[in-house]
Amino acid sequence: MANIQDVAKRAGVSISTVSRVFNGTATVSAEIALRVRNAAQELQYQPSRAARALRANRSTIIGLLISDIQNPFFSSLIRGVEDVVQSSGYSLILCNSDENPDKERQYVEVLCAERVAGIIIVPTREHQRSLRLFRDREIPVVAVDRRVKDHSTDAVLVDNVRGAREGVAHLIANGYQRIGVITGPVSTTTGRERLLGYRQALEQAGIVHDPLLERCGSFKEHSGQQLADELLDLEEPPDALFVCNNLMTLGALEALHMRGRRVPEDMAVVGFDEMPWAALSSISLTTVTQPVYELGSTAALRLFQRLKSPNIFTRQEIVLAPMLCVRGSSRSRSAPMP
Ligand code: RIB
Repeated sequence: MANIQDVAKRAGVSISTVSRVFNGTATVSAEIALRVRNAAQELQYQPSRAARALRANRSTIIGLLISDIQNPFFSSLIRGVEDVVQSSGYSLILCNSDENPDKERQYVEVLCAERVAGIIIVPTREHQRSLRLFRDREIPVVAVDRRVKDHSTDAVLVDNVRGAREGVAHLIANGYQRIGVITGPVSTTTGRERLLGYRQALEQAGIVHDPLLERCGSFKEHSGQQLADELLDLEEPPDALFVCNNLMTLGALEALHMRGRRVPEDMAVVGFDEMPWAALSSISLTTVTQPVYELGSTAALRLFQRLKSPNIFTRQEIVLAPMLCVRGSSRSRSAPMP
């Protein structure tokens, strides 16, 4: 692969002139800039972003602030981010907010102090002010998985409303009428939008939604178990559960297991997020899956677009498609056993 020396020789200029053309750190005549770019194109030269950042005295570190390091969903997201960061010659700092806004703000201040080149964040809340610390320091930010309510932060998301609507419509199509929902904090777009998709599915089927069947948890396993117990203890318990993330689905299945309830014979279940054990024949969980690796890699690519062209002023929102993976846990009771 051609290097900067090869380009300088081909263009008949110095190495520092080639560097100035690609860094934009000093003026170069149009004629020389054209000569350098033509030489680079002929040699298929790729200027190193990391080398460019170093010369421009900028960090070559990207900060990734996720909301729950114990949730396996985020390991695939982190992998997607890291692969892009590494291929760009940068390094990654990983931080975990534990769904705690105070801890999130502490890490925002640490990442600012470390003068990272850019940030990718899974925000703990849709309405929050701590990201302005990055804007004040002109550090580019991309939100992933969840959006923040401002007019400038890019976001890379999955269509949560559509995923939830399709998951609940599938239960209704299989004959379930009294569907309970366990979603995450409605202060997050994932929690709020999955509840919205649940309500849309009921409305489209002409089912009057019963607020007693709606519960908001913490996206953690224990809250899934506790809220499933509450729904099961209702005078009129649901005949199916729609649970809006992997850990809470695990908790809800535990609650059913502790009561000796069979799935789907006694209670149908649809989860959100793929889980390694979901396809096990003993569980065979129907779930709304997310393209998690692609979420991470797309967010990182968007961030590097901003690093390469700091003068991008338009906010971009990229929405990826969820996919319903149908298995045995949502089977119609009238369907023959497999
Ligand atoms: O389990 C992880 C998923 O649930 C993510 O979408 C996260 O935002 C939570 O909603």
